[in-house]
Amino acid sequence: MAQSVITLDGPAGSGKGTIAHRVATALGWHMLDSGALYRLVAFDAISKDIALDDEPALTELARSLEVEFVANDSGATDIVLHEKKVTLDIRTEECGCAASEVAACSAVRAALLERQRDFLQSPGLVADGRDMGTVVFPDAIVKVYLTASAEVRAGRRQKQLKEQGHDAKMSGLVRDIQERDARDMGRKDSPLKPADDALIIDTDQLSIDEVVDKVLTLVNSRLKLK
Ligand code: C5P
Repeated sequence: MAQSVITLDGPAGSGKGTIAHRVATALGWHMLDSGALYRLVAFDAISKDIALDDEPALTELARSLEVEFVANDSGATDIVLHEKKVTLDIRTEECGCAASEVAACSAVRAALLERQRDFLQSPGLVADGRDMGTVVFPDAIVKVYLTASAEVRAGRRQKQLKEQGHDAKMSGLVRDIQERDARDMGRKDSPLKPADDALIIDTDQLSIDEVVDKVLTLVNSRLKLK
């Protein structure tokens, strides 16, 4: 069963979420958006005026997070935290940066580990994040690491934010992305890096369809060999 996992890791804006959704839909598998869990801890902390370096309080929040991922009528997923819908609230740049601060705390990561593994249910799971292939699902049947230049990723982020009704300048987005990359790649616990056995795909020049095709081709060849 541990093998029925596809991991998609990579930096902010590399397209993991979109690709994971498309691949999961094509296979009829479940999905884990692990970044949402770190965003939820950060959002909960900010709402409760808890400092983003208060490790004991953050760990307690991570342990007691009451969250539900509910499929809605339009095929998307609503995220409900302590009975309040926060789907869009956690998608802001501020919350993404706060999530990356919270994610540097090892005790928070440990508190979220089993919760992430619990998402693995039959027939399989597509998990996206930063350490899915290296730490959370090291036995995954397919591991993919998506990259793209900071400028391309900032452009995608700007478009995504606009669709959600938020305005953001390119210069600020590139800076945020570079800061987040540095923090995610430089932290001691579970840093962002490709697993040794990951397929690395540079998405700068590729459309979403092309990336999805590459991932599905790899998945199908591995599933046949199983
Ligand atoms: O993917 P997303 O932008 O939602 O992730 C927000 C932050 O959560 C990342 O910048 C990263 O610091 C953290 N994260 C992590 N490990 C994961 C997923 C996300 O550290 N598996």
